[in-house]
Amino acid sequence: MKVARITLSDRASAGVYADRSGPEIERVFCEAWGGEVDFEAHLLPDERGLIAETLRNVCERGECALVITTGGTGPSARDVTPEATHDVLEKELPGFGEAMRMLSFAKVPTAILSRATAGIRGKTLILNLPGNPRAIGECLPPLVPAIREALRHLAGE
Ligand code: MTE
Repeated sequence: MKVARITLSDRASAGVYADRSGPEIERVFCEAWGGEVDFEAHLLPDERGLIAETLRNVCERGECALVITTGGTGPSARDVTPEATHDVLEKELPGFGEAMRMLSFAKVPTAILSRATAGIRGKTLILNLPGNPRAIGECLPPLVPAIREALRHLAGE
């Protein structure tokens, strides 16, 4: 099982601060998945074209069953991850974003500011997560059963 994790942040990619969200995806996903996972790591600025190109390349290589992005899902001018994701998706799976917002809203009223989505390109599942490392621990574990099932469908099982 290989997973690409992509951190979208102007400041982390410029070295203003360290990327804590990418490593947090590895920690949380490994614990929730419970199996062998290999990661490839990307750190990019909030540039729609660059994000879409990276998503296309990862999907076309076909090595990663799953791509998890973190960051750039909010309402700020530079937040363009959902737009870049829509640029490459063949099928959207809006339930992932709906579930994240629904589950987090009770605890974190600002959770509904995230426009995170998910979907399929080729045989790859792409999933957006918010950028806050704490949000990764809150949002990702409940999604794992649906991720597992989606990957089975994509593998033709
Ligand atoms: N979801 C959870 N579970 N926990 C959080 O702290 N932060 C919210 C939201 N979703 C948050 C969350 C906030 S404040 C914003 S602005 C959006 O995610 C978008 O964050 P992003 O632009 O870093 O992706």
